[in-house]
Amino acid sequence: MEFPRVPPRFPLPPTELGGRPRRYIATPTDRTTQIQQQPSKHSRQPTAHSHTTSDQLQRAAAAMAVSAARVAVATAASLAAHWLVRSFLQSQHPALGLLLPAAVFLGIAVLSGKSGADNAPPGPAAVPVFGNWLQVGNDLNHRFLARLSTNYGPVFRLRLGVRNLVVVSDPRLATEVLHTQGVEFGSRPRNVVFDIFTANGADMVFTEYGDHWRRMRRVMTLPFFTARVVQQYRDMWEAEMDAVVADIAADRAVAQTAGFVVRRRLQLMLYNIMYRMMFDAGFDSVDDPMFVEATKFNSERSRLAQSFEYNYGDFIPILRPFLRGYLDRCRDLQTRRLAFFNNNYVDKRRKVMDTPGEDKNKLRCAIDHILQAEKNGEITPENVIYIVENINVAAIETTLWSIEWALAEVVNHPAVQRKVRDEIRDVIGDDEPITESNIHKLAYLQAVIKETLRLHSPIPLLVPHMNLEEAKLGGYTIPKGSKVVVNAWWLANNPELWEKPEEFRPERFLGEEKAVDATVGGKVDFRFLPFGVGRRSCPGIILALPILALIVGKLVRSFEMVPPPGVEKLDVSEKGGQFSLHIAKHSVIAFHPASA
Ligand code: HEM
Repeated sequence: MEFPRVPPRFPLPPTELGGRPRRYIATPTDRTTQIQQQPSKHSRQPTAHSHTTSDQLQRAAAAMAVSAARVAVATAASLAAHWLVRSFLQSQHPALGLLLPAAVFLGIAVLSGKSGADNAPPGPAAVPVFGNWLQVGNDLNHRFLARLSTNYGPVFRLRLGVRNLVVVSDPRLATEVLHTQGVEFGSRPRNVVFDIFTANGADMVFTEYGDHWRRMRRVMTLPFFTARVVQQYRDMWEAEMDAVVADIAADRAVAQTAGFVVRRRLQLMLYNIMYRMMFDAGFDSVDDPMFVEATKFNSERSRLAQSFEYNYGDFIPILRPFLRGYLDRCRDLQTRRLAFFNNNYVDKRRKVMDTPGEDKNKLRCAIDHILQAEKNGEITPENVIYIVENINVAAIETTLWSIEWALAEVVNHPAVQRKVRDEIRDVIGDDEPITESNIHKLAYLQAVIKETLRLHSPIPLLVPHMNLEEAKLGGYTIPKGSKVVVNAWWLANNPELWEKPEEFRPERFLGEEKAVDATVGGKVDFRFLPFGVGRRSCPGIILALPILALIVGKLVRSFEMVPPPGVEKLDVSEKGGQFSLHIAKHSVIAFHPASA
């Protein structure tokens, strides 16, 4: 649905439009006062004007414009409601036919310009019951929210039924949310579907900020997120990747001529990497029944959780009974999925751990450490299974999407691909393998990975944050329990902050942006946050970055990757979900031996 154009309440001052890219680097010593001393250019201006007649005329004209905008909103809302009612009616819930129009009528009848709490961030006028939902629709993706931010400023608010969404689109305010006020905004919002998939926050990724989260993060760090873990497993990672290269090289008929969708083979590689680290278990091939089952469970979980289909019941509690079928499907899937993890993997390691006496097999893999923490009473058996759940979604999919984007871009930019290959030849030579210990020498390859994550952030709005108590942001009051999203994609793609951001140009990270690193702490440039930053940032960065560089480096060294015959460029259209972003069409790539 097209969003009706509402005049900006806090327009950008002319000096902020265009001009040289700005950068904002913060270190952990940065304080809130920086924000206060340099208020956002869009923040509500105090009304210091004198009360002249011309001012009054201007205000009257502005009021008329706002009224006109509201009428437009109401009209759009009615049309949207009509459409919604019809689609709901055509589905399975005739009772909605009575409820929805009544609610819409009530909402539009009492339409008011007040968008909620005093001093709330700017945003479009909301109608009761629906808020802005009928205006903005379901797909609140990073591009749409970036467009809205040019109207409403770097922090704005949307009301989505009973939910309150606050969108942050500027590096200084991102610093506030993620770093300076990282505790205040360190929780995660609830939603009816994620409540099921996380057992109301028994996990780590989606749980509230507090003791439980701290314990889970501590327990997970040692077995998953340290340099020692990288050293322990890097030979295994490299072997899994070399197997991908060998399989493609052996497949002359398909891979080297017509090309094939390499995604499934890469998915097997990532499952093997993560399941070997977690359980000391792996899969034989893409046809291994256990692999087929694991990927089915996880992709169905992603589909149900990332879908927009359930928004209506999440936003509007009176409609929740109509969501029962959907929620039952989620519950059923989750029960079967967790049983799959438990029976096939966790219980096997539990038996090893429970066997009395010393055993060299104990503490072999990550789950053993997690089970040890359970034995010590730090976490419960339910927490254990949700750690497994979290790794399945947080670790595998994000990394797979990033590899897919990187390969599509190097196929579409043959000069970049050649440069990576030349760098490997010049720096590492033809005989030495590419390993975790020598990838740091490949500066251009690292730049390719950064540029991929900049242009195609797999989690463009980060995982949503939430404030448990009422908070202040950019001079506005943020009601407690708001869902706060940082539009990290826009921070990394705003033409005011980056030179030609729409171009895939890794050279920027060796040139004008060479000081910018992909990091979650230390010297952070708040324009580039593919892994977030601060307390809730991604701890998996320590694994993800070397895995990405290794697999892309190994494939580029061995193959000249090109589009399939008859195709000039790979399609890099996006497909998003509640907060995920991946390539819409999995690429078909032809792999010609690089020396040919
Ligand atoms: C390219 C790959 C990856 C990307 C782009 C990515 C990105 C992110 C982002 C944006 C967040 C949320 C940050 C925030 O809310 O402020 C996050 C959280 C998280 N990621 Fe990753 N991630 C990746 C790979 C991984 C891997 C490999 C693992 C585990 C092995 C992992 C585990 C986690 C966990 C556990 C959290 C939740 C942290 C918390 O809530 O405290 N991620 N990730």
